[in-house]
Amino acid sequence: MTTSFDQRELRNVLGSFVTGVTVVTTLDADGQPLGVTANSFSSVSLEPPLILWSQALTARSFPAFRDAERFVINILAEDQAQVSQRFAKAGEDKFAGVATREGIGGLPLIDGCTAYLQCRKVATYPGGDHAVFIGQVEQIERCDRKPLAFGGGRYMLAHSYDLGTFSVDKPDGGLQHVEAVRIANAALPEIGQRLDAMLGLSVWGNRGPTVINWEPTRNAVTQDLHTGLVVSPVFSASGLTFTAYLPREMTRHNVQAELQQLREAAMSNVPSEEEIDRRLDDVRTHGLAHSVPERFGADIAAIGAPVFDHRGRIVFALTAVATTSRIGNGYDGPLQVSLRREAAALSQRLGHRTA
Ligand SMILES: Cc1cc2nc3c(=O)[nH]c(=O)nc-3n(C[C@H](O)[C@H](O)[C@H](O)COP(=O)(O)O)c2cc1C
Repeated sequence: MTTSFDQRELRNVLGSFVTGVTVVTTLDADGQPLGVTANSFSSVSLEPPLILWSQALTARSFPAFRDAERFVINILAEDQAQVSQRFAKAGEDKFAGVATREGIGGLPLIDGCTAYLQCRKVATYPGGDHAVFIGQVEQIERCDRKPLAFGGGRYMLAHSYDLGTFSVDKPDGGLQHVEAVRIANAALPEIGQRLDAMLGLSVWGNRGPTVINWEPTRNAVTQDLHTGLVVSPVFSASGLTFTAYLPREMTRHNVQAELQQLREAAMSNVPSEEEIDRRLDDVRTHGLAHSVPERFGADIAAIGAPVFDHRGRIVFALTAVATTSRIGNGYDGPLQVSLRREAAALSQRLGHRTA
C-alpha cells in the first residue's frame, strides 16, 4: 500500500499522543519471568472489565506472551523511568535488582508502581506487525504515586491541569496564572539547553520584578543569583522588560521608589525620567531589554524578553545571563534572536496570539 507519509512522520504523529508507561509481565513455559515496556496499553470495556496492549511480532518475548494464559500490567510511577528503560531493552535478566512480589499464578508484580491490573488473556488479534492482546482484569490495585508519562519519544512528568476558580469554558477563560507558572518552569531546562545560557524567570510581584526560577547551565557565569530576588525596575533586564510592557500605573511607584533610594544614597549617574523613558522605548521597539552594564558587574550582562498570556498581558520576563562579550550591545545577536524566539514560543503555549 502506498501512503503519503513515511514511517518517521507516522511515529512523530503517534508520539504526540501522550501516554502512561507500563511494563507487562508474565511467566514463560519454564516459569521464568518476562517483562516488556509497553505504552500501547489501553482500556477497552468496563463490563466485562477488559484492557488491551499490543506487542511487536519481532519481540523476543512475543512467543511467550502469545502462549501465556495471563499477564500483569504494571503502570509505572514517575520515578521509574529507569525501570522502563530496563524492560525496553533485550537483556538477559531484566529482573536482576528489580524488587517484585508474586501475584495470581506467581506472575511478577514490580514494586513501586502506580497501579496493577492482573489479567487473564481472553483474545489475541492480528494487528499488522503487532499482535493485540485482550485481557480480562481479575485483580486491581492502586497506590498513591504519580504516573510516569511518555510522549514525543521522551519521558514526561504529568500534573493535573489546574482550572482554578475560572473555567476555560468562560469567554474570558484561559490559563490560570498558577498553570502558566508550571508550564514556564517546566519549559525552562529545555530552553536553557537550547540557548546554552543561564536563564531567569521573573514575575511582577507585590514588590516589583521578582525572580521565581533560575535555570543554571553547565558553565554558569555566576552562582550569585537567588530565587525570590527582587530586581531593579530600571536597571535589570527583567525589570526593564516588565516596566516597558506593564501599564505605567502599575510600575510608576516602583520606579519612583528606586530613583528616590538612589538619590538618597547619593549615587552617581541616577538616570533621569527621560533617560528611563528612552530605555523603555528601546525595549518596546526591539522586544528585548538589556541590563544596564555598570549595575550588574563588569563582565556579566543580561537580556530579557517578555512572555505574554492569552490576553496579551505580560506574565513573565525570560532573562538570559551571560558574559558581556557574548551578549554584546545589539539587539540582533544570536542570543538575542534565540531568546526572543523562545519567549514568543512560550507566549504561544500560554495562549498568546499575535495579530
Ligand atoms: C515507552 C516505551 C513504550 C513501548 N511500547 C511498546 C509496545 O507497546 N509494544 C511493543 O511491542 N514494544 C514496545 N516498546 C518496545 C519494547 O519495550 C522493546 O522492544 C523490548 O525490548 C521488548 O522486549 P523483548 O525483546 O525482551 O521482548 C516500548 C518501548 C518504550 C521505551
